[in-house]
Amino acid sequence: MSNASDSWWRNAVIYQVYIRSFADDSGDGIGDIAGLRSRLQYLTYLGVDAIWINPWYPSPLADGGYDVSDYRDIHPGYGTLDEAKQLITEAHHLGLRVILDIVPNHTSDQHAWFQQALAAGPGSSERERYIFREGRGEDGSLPPNDWHAAFGGPTWTRTDDGQWYLHLFAPEQPDLNWDNPEVRAEFESVLRFWFDLGVDGFRIDVAHGMVKDPALPDLGLTEFSVLARKGQENHPHWDRDGIHDIFRNWRAIADSYPDRRVFVAEAHVRPGRLAGYLRPDELHTAFNFDFLKCALEADRLREVIDRSITDLATVGAPATWVLSNHDETRHVTRYGRAYTGVTTPMRDQGHPTDLTLGTRRARAAALLMLALPGGAYIYQGEELGLYEVEDLPEEVLQDPTWERSGHTIRGRDGCRVPLPWTGDTPPFGFSANGAAPWLPQPEDWKSCTAEANQADPTSMLQLYRSALRLRRTKAGMSGEEFRWLDSPDGTLLFERGNGLLCAVNLSDQPVPLPVACRPLQQSGPLGSDGQLPPDTTVWLQRD
Ligand code: NOJ
Repeated sequence: MSNASDSWWRNAVIYQVYIRSFADDSGDGIGDIAGLRSRLQYLTYLGVDAIWINPWYPSPLADGGYDVSDYRDIHPGYGTLDEAKQLITEAHHLGLRVILDIVPNHTSDQHAWFQQALAAGPGSSERERYIFREGRGEDGSLPPNDWHAAFGGPTWTRTDDGQWYLHLFAPEQPDLNWDNPEVRAEFESVLRFWFDLGVDGFRIDVAHGMVKDPALPDLGLTEFSVLARKGQENHPHWDRDGIHDIFRNWRAIADSYPDRRVFVAEAHVRPGRLAGYLRPDELHTAFNFDFLKCALEADRLREVIDRSITDLATVGAPATWVLSNHDETRHVTRYGRAYTGVTTPMRDQGHPTDLTLGTRRARAAALLMLALPGGAYIYQGEELGLYEVEDLPEEVLQDPTWERSGHTIRGRDGCRVPLPWTGDTPPFGFSANGAAPWLPQPEDWKSCTAEANQADPTSMLQLYRSALRLRRTKAGMSGEEFRWLDSPDGTLLFERGNGLLCAVNLSDQPVPLPVACRPLQQSGPLGSDGQLPPDTTVWLQRD
């Protein structure tokens, strides 16, 4: 491995592989393990430390694989368990660690457990693995409570025998009952299964949702989404204290391996609560959604950065930084709009967008993110400068949000369009045999294929590569040293170790560069007069 230390994860750069859309070797228009294996060299060329692979388990794909029907196997369309083992070995040979995605809040409705629960009927131990309840009203025809599901509609679906089951997401994703020791034991066994195959860690899906208030009280919601009110104290299904016991057990399992394995939490919690998940005997890191969602404005960013570092330092955990993922509008697009933050997840579309401006700002944001202390996540394609595809034809949309919102919310497919690798026309080398990809790519992605990016020294890919190289080689970047320096309004200036500075100009005027420093890397051209232009970031070395 390139980094033998047990704490490699404290400042790792992790590349998110949305496997359906990464590379297709079999020629069916859908990405697969063989495609990923064939492109591992590209990831070492880019210079990342690890990959996180979105769920690759057997799944009916009602929610892009976040509906798992078997946690110990590979989705047939993606390959086989043997190929997964080969991938892990090959990645390790190349110095890349491998992180999988575990989905413990819910299974697929096609999972053997759920099928057994349906067959066994009310009162059975099989039903105790999920959350089944009688309905309300005289004949039980009303849902047991008023919760709303994340993709639209109620969180309850009625079965043929009249009971209802809970699903915080789609009806095809029944929630597990984490008060049941059998559920806990099963997931501990699943963790060991993959750890034994050499997997280096897990991203935990909906880590803040697994434990529910057994009384299942009404929320009194009038809004559409269950995500509303998630910040309320003692929420009946988000961020309940009971979750921490589960993660302490998981940590003990990860630590029982000689080369300790790691976790990263997907936990949407209110400010100040994330540190609770990252205590020394719980999870290692968590995604920083506050940073992802923050508008590209100096004051707001400074506040988020400060809060992230300070809160997590109370438990000795490093911050992480992320700009995009498979659930959010790609940041080239977000940053090309009048308001650059995320407003409403999954609905944030169709605003007037200036992609040239968005790209310039995305370059500046990448250098900001990669200069901050802690870990960083790169979502596949952001290193190519890809933007959100907002005009996908309605008939190709697959995100469950589209159906469940009665065709009012298009959902997340626009950030999941298969990667362009080579050539001038779709599918841009995505499928080995030229098959049409599962979501169509825009014609003008010919300028952002990996091939085009590789050939252009000023491309987004070359910016990421050279920043990642500096991050690896400059000692000042590897520690956790960080301090703000004074800088003009609308700008950020901070110092890492060994006199390394990062200056970000998010104002609409050029500002003077700090004196007695030489530029190491910049996101765009610097002014000839020693000025830092708007929407530009520069890394500097003190003389
Ligand atoms: C979060 C995942 O990132 C998202 O893609 C998925 O739809 C939900 N969890 C439900 O599993």
